[in-house]
Amino acid sequence: MSDLSVVILAAGQGTRMRSRLPKVLHEVAGKPMLQHVIDAAEKLSASAIYVVYGHGGDTVRSSLASQPVQWVEQVEQLGTGHAVNQAMPGIPEHHTVMVLYGDVPLITDGTLKQLAVAATDGLGLLTTHLPEPGGYGRIVRDEEGNVLAIVEEKDASEQQRTIQEVNTGMLAVSAANLRRWLDALDNNNAQGEYYLTDIIASAVSEGISVRTVNPGAVAEVMGVNNRVQLAELERDYQRRQCEELMMSGVTLRDPERFDLRGNLAVGQDVIIDVNVIMEGDISLGDGVFIGPNCYLRDVTVAAGTRINSHSVLEQADIGADCRIGPFARVRPETRLADKVHIGNFVEIKKSRVATGSKINHLSYVGDSVIGSGVNVGAGVITCNYDGANKHRTVIGDNAFIGSDTQLVAPVQVGAGATIGAGSTITHDTPAGELTLSRTRQKTINGWHRPTKKTD
Ligand code: UD1
Ligand code: CA
Repeated sequence: MSDLSVVILAAGQGTRMRSRLPKVLHEVAGKPMLQHVIDAAEKLSASAIYVVYGHGGDTVRSSLASQPVQWVEQVEQLGTGHAVNQAMPGIPEHHTVMVLYGDVPLITDGTLKQLAVAATDGLGLLTTHLPEPGGYGRIVRDEEGNVLAIVEEKDASEQQRTIQEVNTGMLAVSAANLRRWLDALDNNNAQGEYYLTDIIASAVSEGISVRTVNPGAVAEVMGVNNRVQLAELERDYQRRQCEELMMSGVTLRDPERFDLRGNLAVGQDVIIDVNVIMEGDISLGDGVFIGPNCYLRDVTVAAGTRINSHSVLEQADIGADCRIGPFARVRPETRLADKVHIGNFVEIKKSRVATGSKINHLSYVGDSVIGSGVNVGAGVITCNYDGANKHRTVIGDNAFIGSDTQLVAPVQVGAGATIGAGSTITHDTPAGELTLSRTRQKTINGWHRPTKKTD
């Protein structure tokens, strides 16, 4: 919608969050609430998005500095009408203005598109029905059902307070009309504020129709004032996301025990066991299995791979038919080719491992390039750090590194080489040969253990 300007109100203090962080920066599914609203607005292809900020404004602006929005400061919070008016100077007369809220994060573009349609020949107003409408502005209608006004709870009569249709705050209307009505607002009400909601009565008095739209789900219009409500929206969001994943063919062993804070792309027949957390951009190929209690951030996993329980993978590319974990830690900039095995208590960082290689037990592998068909024995350590710089370890195809070997980088192990168990390798080792560094085993006959002294 090229002639659409979106105004997102985000100036409120959010005292009830009891936080140093401005309310709109608190996260739902790993993303600031305000970012959710900006993303929904962007899906409408609005020509401009204005964010009205106030309390904690510098933090909000710097956290979301890369966003395609215009920042408008509301120095004093004099009410929702006053807040919207701060953005009006930049908005062309022929635009439709849509008002959204930085602390109402789950609004969907689908609902907002309907709201925009409702505004094409009048004022579009997003309302919902609540069994307990306390605290909300009530929608007052005449006998024919036409909207007459919004009455705030504090200004409402006893009778009006029984109305269960409430104002969500979101609306859309032409800029020309909105400007006129905002300029005419006064603050003669119970809270001494300039109420945006008073423009409804202005529209009605000018014979402009008010069309109401309802959200697809009530959670879309729920605001966050405290951390209890934040947690409720988080659950709601996760539940909806899980439903979409399951409908697309993913098995979630328990959708209540899976959290996705980012984007997940999946092939067919992916299985995710309980207590798994995924963040950032994740891609899982056909038949991938993620065991219980795993954490994945920015990871791609190719088809047929199993990530067994309690594994932590960050910024890594995992090939097809690999077996990772249980208890593996795969750190950033790691690329594993197909059929690689990374076993328990193995930490691997910034390394490449070629096809079919195995690092199965108790190892640290950092800054390494490992060929194909390599066996890295239990307890092998790459000593990649000299206290000042990091150095590389290179292991050729089909090498065999005996258990408890230290590879002191920079060092290269030739293709097909064998390293004897317990070696400390400080120089490059030739291909195809056995290299070891350890003293010959000896026995000292008649040696006795020390005995405890008595005094
Ligand atoms: C408002 C509506 C009410 C609606 C309710 C839904 C008005 C007068 N009332 O009431 O009908 O049912 O929302 O939640 O609009 N804000 C600013 N600057 C201000 C004042 C508010 O940016 O000067 C922002 C706040 O950060 C908040 C939003 O506007 O995100 C709503 O303000 P709030 O004071 O909470 O309005 P309510 O009393 O909840
Ligand atoms: Ca509110």
